[in-house]
Amino acid sequence: MLELRDVEIRYGSVAAVHRVDLTVNAGEFVALIGSNGAGKTTILKAISGLLQPSRGEITFNGERINGRAAHTITRAGIAHVPEGRQVFPDLTVLENLEMGGFLFRNQRAVFQQQLDMVMSLFPRLAERRTQLAGTLSGGEQQMLAVGRALMSKPTLILLDEPSLGLAPRLVQEMFEFLARLHRETKMALLLVEQLAELALTLVERGYVIENGRISLEGTGKALQDDARIQQIYLGMA
Ligand SMILES: Nc1ncnc2c1ncn2[C@@H]1O[C@H](COP(=O)(O)OP(=O)(O)O)[C@@H](O)[C@H]1O
Ligand SMILES: [Mg+2]
Repeated sequence: MLELRDVEIRYGSVAAVHRVDLTVNAGEFVALIGSNGAGKTTILKAISGLLQPSRGEITFNGERINGRAAHTITRAGIAHVPEGRQVFPDLTVLENLEMGGFLFRNQRAVFQQQLDMVMSLFPRLAERRTQLAGTLSGGEQQMLAVGRALMSKPTLILLDEPSLGLAPRLVQEMFEFLARLHRETKMALLLVEQLAELALTLVERGYVIENGRISLEGTGKALQDDARIQQIYLGMA
């Protein structure tokens, strides 16, 4: 479904991501793990059209998407939940979700169908639909950010460190929620995380990125058992 081939991404003269190959199949749950500064966010931004690769190709359902405007990539079915959530704090929960559904602003039935789906996946957002997003807890804001992404009716969701800044109990809750989201929607998910151990228990396949290069790839189980992972991430999760 998604394929990155030989992708290099630069900030000015400095390459942050070097010749990366990565695929996500339809309905698959994949993790991209690596420490701070490894290049995870840079890769997600290139997939969703916020950065342009300086080399290589990104295809989605067989069509080249690098070079296309971000909103056309959203329309093609890729939703991005950015690092740090970035909900609109002064808008209500419902208004935030409406922003996520802007593609369907003139298709009331589709919009309503997505909204019903989000509200049934997140009963807690439904209860708080008129509450200002800025007054939600960190975990609830993260759920709202995911819900907002779901409003664009994606077939692939990019999740940039959803655990960041959450208390350990809420991190666990967030991961359980992602597992349920995958189970119930069968959407493809590309999860970026520093919490390698936790992420790898959840996903079907994973990639490890170090200094802008993919250093390991395999099933979640194989990576969990890999001695190098245990060494690199021991005590981190
Ligand atoms: N806007 C930017 N300008 C220049 N360098 C950047 C910019 N954003 C990120 N970088 C650099 O690119 C590298 C990868 O960053 P990033 O993709 O944010 O890593 P991660 O998400 O894995 O923590 C880091 O060395 C970072 O300093
Ligand atoms: Mg990042």
